Amino acid sequence: GGERKITVNKNNVVTITGDDTALNALTNNKIFLPSSCGGKATCGTCKFRLIGDVEPPKSTELPFLSKEEIADGVRLSCQTKVTSDIECEVPASALNSKVYDAKVVEIEDLTHDIKRVRFEMKEDFNFKPGQYLQIQVPGIETVRAYSIASDSKDLKHPEVIIRLVPGGVATKFIHKAMIVGDKIKITGPFGEFFLQEKSNRPMIMIAGGSGMAPIRSIIFKMMDLGFPRKGTYFFGARTKKDLYYTEYFLDVAKKYPNFKFIPALSAPLPEDNWELEVGLITDVVRKFTDDLSGHEAYLCGSPGMIDACIKVLKEKGMPEEYIYFDKF
Ligand code: FES
Repeated sequence: GGERKITVNKNNVVTITGDDTALNALTNNKIFLPSSCGGKATCGTCKFRLIGDVEPPKSTELPFLSKEEIADGVRLSCQTKVTSDIECEVPASALNSKVYDAKVVEIEDLTHDIKRVRFEMKEDFNFKPGQYLQIQVPGIETVRAYSIASDSKDLKHPEVIIRLVPGGVATKFIHKAMIVGDKIKITGPFGEFFLQEKSNRPMIMIAGGSGMAPIRSIIFKMMDLGFPRKGTYFFGARTKKDLYYTEYFLDVAKKYPNFKFIPALSAPLPEDNWELEVGLITDVVRKFTDDLSGHEAYLCGSPGMIDACIKVLKEKGMPEEYIYFDKF
């Protein structure tokens, strides 16, 4: 028992009584670190950095921590028991996140396995284009993270784009059981992947599948700003039935001379009658870009896709610190 102080990001102090995990202690004090396994050490999203004398990581933490992180004091907050006063550092977004009451107001099929879900919030939900939110899935003790796909101007109606993952409990619930009118809890916003609004570097955006979501939000914002710098959006899919919003972004490109949209299919079917780009997205990016040393990039997709794209961008001279990505 006893009272312990947790100092967060230098100037926020929370006091807890008794021993608890740092994740629970922070959550109870409205500092929301992302967590999608409920503290079971299987998601690795609840990382934070301990400052001062830090104990070696537990075996449960090792799969999620790099050597550098371990040396730096990074640990899983759900595996850290607060038994004395501690000081820690959390992502800035954790201090701005909270739990929101939301209602499902629209569900739309975008493809055979991708849906758009629109929520209505009681309170304003402020986010930066590119960030994500977490949905508490009723019936199972877990939350799932989804990038926000909507216009950040609309503070009451965040939208997400969800692909049905075969065997995935949460996406199965969302695809098969969620209906308009459902009340759910949303936590957020989270994430350090977001549009660098002050930058004037030309943008390369690359997405595949439901990775469309944060890029859509980023492009809404760029349109609001009048698309003041160049931006090229590469979207990769397998066949035509996996494409969505194609007409929409081709239209945006007609309206904003700075914006280009390049959809590409990796395995078009004969009946697709596809006349635009064919090939892996990496090859298409390679074909349409020259020197990228002055550009910045926003990538969203599978880890494999992102790693392959980072390689191409670096080949073309893009400095690593200007490559922003969101792997899922
Ligand atoms: Fe999932 Fe800590 S909450 S690993």
